[in-house]
Amino acid sequence: MRGIVVRDEGVALEEFGEELLGEGTLHVDVAYSDLNYKDGLAVTGRPGVVRTRPLVAGIDLVGRVAESSDERWCPGDWVMLNGAGLSETAHGGYATRAHIDGELAVALPDGLSPEQAAALGTAGYTAALAVLRLVMEGVSPDQGPVLVTGATGGVGSIATMLLAAAGFDVAALTGRPDELGDFLRELGADEIVARADLEGAGKPLQKATYAGVVDSVGGEVLANAIARTVPGGTVAACGLAGSHALPTTVMPFILRGVTLAGIDSVWAPANDREDAWRTLSRGVDVELLDAMTTRIGLDGVIAAGEELLAGRRHGRTLVEVR
Ligand SMILES: NC(=O)c1ccc[n+]([C@@H]2O[C@H](COP(=O)([O-])OP(=O)(O)OC[C@H]3O[C@@H](n4cnc5c(N)ncnc54)[C@H](OP(=O)(O)O)[C@@H]3O)[C@@H](O)[C@H]2O)c1
Repeated sequence: MRGIVVRDEGVALEEFGEELLGEGTLHVDVAYSDLNYKDGLAVTGRPGVVRTRPLVAGIDLVGRVAESSDERWCPGDWVMLNGAGLSETAHGGYATRAHIDGELAVALPDGLSPEQAAALGTAGYTAALAVLRLVMEGVSPDQGPVLVTGATGGVGSIATMLLAAAGFDVAALTGRPDELGDFLRELGADEIVARADLEGAGKPLQKATYAGVVDSVGGEVLANAIARTVPGGTVAACGLAGSHALPTTVMPFILRGVTLAGIDSVWAPANDREDAWRTLSRGVDVELLDAMTTRIGLDGVIAAGEELLAGRRHGRTLVEVR
């Protein structure tokens, strides 16, 4: 077996024996994984993701079942798993073999190749959960634009694509408007908003502009986004790429009835996972996805993780595991 293992002494791509992987009703030959913010943290040895060591990193995997003691799955089936403790307390997708719980595995959705499903990964699936949540809370295109923060990142870029496909006007907030504004317009953004416009301490109630928000940044950006949400609007909080803080007051919630909806992809129930993947297979333009996907091997993951955390990557990164 070959994989990226996080140990007390550091993180490295190494050969290891299958016994490291422990139990699991499915033994999977992993074909693909991807690179998410949490993967960046894990493979660069930063705290906050990996909770037990040694542990194979990689929060996502797509592969074929090699052995199964779960009647739902047969050898040769393609399966995927996103989150569910991978790279936190369970061995993840950055290795040629994974032992997983068949109960948690998800079939590949129709219309997406194994590579496309892996390229979407947790970021795409989280974006879909967030968009579905906005719709469930009653946000509709006639109520105004939806703001997407961290728009050039994994969650942000797929959220932009899904919202545009569903008929929403998308305001895409980015720290790289000059460099990547055209990329965001191609994904379907109607307006590019410079990150600086929402940085800094702001009043808790500002001009009501956005019917909904998909936020992966947190901090003052999230506080100002909430302050600009229209009465009855919904803000889906997905991430903390900028900060885990939330410097706001109760005012937007009690005077405008704004809903702050938390998105947790890691332990989302099976029904929500299936809905999210159905949304992705219908709403993602696979040609655009392919064009925004960069491919790397396992040997490129650690360097790519550093780049991602430094804000020097955009779109999606597919990891070819084999
Ligand atoms: N809730 C969940 O279940 C869940 C699932 C997936 C991800 N997440 C979280 O969502 C966040 C985004 O994940 P991702 O995989 O999309 O990461 P990513 O690809 O690195 O994208 C993050 C984006 O945020 C912006 N950004 C980066 N540093 C920033 C800073 N210091 N201040 C403000 N904006 C900054 C950048 O976009 P621009 O350059 O365009 O501004 C960057 O592309 C992470 O915090 C991740 O942990 C949560």
